[in-house]
Amino acid sequence: MALKKDLSINYLGVKFENPFCLSSSPVGSDYDMCAKALEAGWGGIVFKTIGIFIADEVSPRFDIVNKEGHPFVGFKNLEQISDKSVEANLKCIEKIKKNFPHKPMIASVMGSSPEEWKQLAEMVTQAGADIIECNFSCPQMTSHTMGSDVGTNLELVREYSRATSQATKLPVIAKMTPNLTNIEGPALAAIEGGAKSISAINTVKSITSVDTDLFCSVPVVDGKSAIGGYSGAAIKPIALRFIANLAQYDKLKGVEISGIGGIETWRDAVEFLLLGARNLQVTTGIMQYGYRIVEDMISGVSHYMDEKGFNSLEDFIGKALTNLTGADNLNRDYKAPVKINAEACIGCGRCYISCYDAAHQAIDWDGEKRRPAVSDRCVGCHLCLNVCPVQGVILPGEIEFKEGRTKRPVTIKTKYE
Ligand SMILES: Cc1cc2nc3c(=O)[nH]c(=O)nc-3n(C[C@H](O)[C@H](O)[C@H](O)COP(=O)(O)O)c2cc1C
Repeated sequence: MALKKDLSINYLGVKFENPFCLSSSPVGSDYDMCAKALEAGWGGIVFKTIGIFIADEVSPRFDIVNKEGHPFVGFKNLEQISDKSVEANLKCIEKIKKNFPHKPMIASVMGSSPEEWKQLAEMVTQAGADIIECNFSCPQMTSHTMGSDVGTNLELVREYSRATSQATKLPVIAKMTPNLTNIEGPALAAIEGGAKSISAINTVKSITSVDTDLFCSVPVVDGKSAIGGYSGAAIKPIALRFIANLAQYDKLKGVEISGIGGIETWRDAVEFLLLGARNLQVTTGIMQYGYRIVEDMISGVSHYMDEKGFNSLEDFIGKALTNLTGADNLNRDYKAPVKINAEACIGCGRCYISCYDAAHQAIDWDGEKRRPAVSDRCVGCHLCLNVCPVQGVILPGEIEFKEGRTKRPVTIKTKYE
């Protein structure tokens, strides 16, 4: 099917036919995988992190978090950087660039000293990479000289960004860890060191579950486990928050952002773009569904642009940022009580229970007819709307202004799908 819109974009001066890239991980770790992904339509590759250190991985190394029949809400891994030799990885990069010259190749690297960062930068530049991403963010490295321990140390981020940038003519991205309160500090340190872009986020430090018979968190590796990186849909809210923090930070004005974390659908993609990302990276969605998800993401973004009248991604990148403000700036003059469509209601009673046990006892319940009714105690918190299993049955009703407050038109969300 012909695409309705052009999704191409320049990121760091390199043209991408669409913003979708494999993020650095097993999904882009050898030639055949990358070739298959590029043929499926991915705009570019961030190759699995290459280091002088070669990983010696544990088995098993994954765990998942489910919720009410939805598998893979979150995904935990204990994997480190590439377990292949630098030479083997460089050959892969060369071959991909030779056979797919128009698809950008971002080489992810991780050193443990300025010399190693320099050496890696020189090698991947020589191999034909278009961009370098510095991995300052893997949370499960076995040495404090690498990974997220580096990413939370401003001095090291600045120093290693400088060592990398000075060793190459290629633009350098610094990949941030979310395992901190304030992402702006390390991001600024990276830019001061010469990085041109920030990518975020890597995985979130986590314990996903504990085996209650073995008394050990999961994955169980010979009776023991370790804190590992959490990814997938569950971390999207954390990623979006960090993307917005970066995009709104004055000292990073003009710095291009690559968004990562829980992107699985076209809507996720649009959300990252609206908060200021101009490049998008994906791993866990591919681990679960395969490379083909890119087709739906491309066509979905294209349809969205058509519907909204946008002709290029530039038309809407960052468009949601002006509406992201401090909690102290929010309009507290009104409430939006809900209305319930009794005909479409399936009578499950979940709105009644949640409102009674966790909100304002504002829904009355007709036990005989099994139907809820909203009372004037409703404060418009919308807990019921969010727990209702049938979309559209509970919606915001008429806006009511609090006593003494000035009435004026307000914008609220009315479309739930
Ligand atoms: C199994 C696995 C291995 C990963 N390996 C790397 C890596 O080598 N380098 C890196 O920068 N990030 C690595 N990541 C992090 C991802 O690139 C990505 O930042 C993170 O998973 C969040 O995106 P997602 O929710 O789309 O997976 C890895 C993630 C997973 C799940």
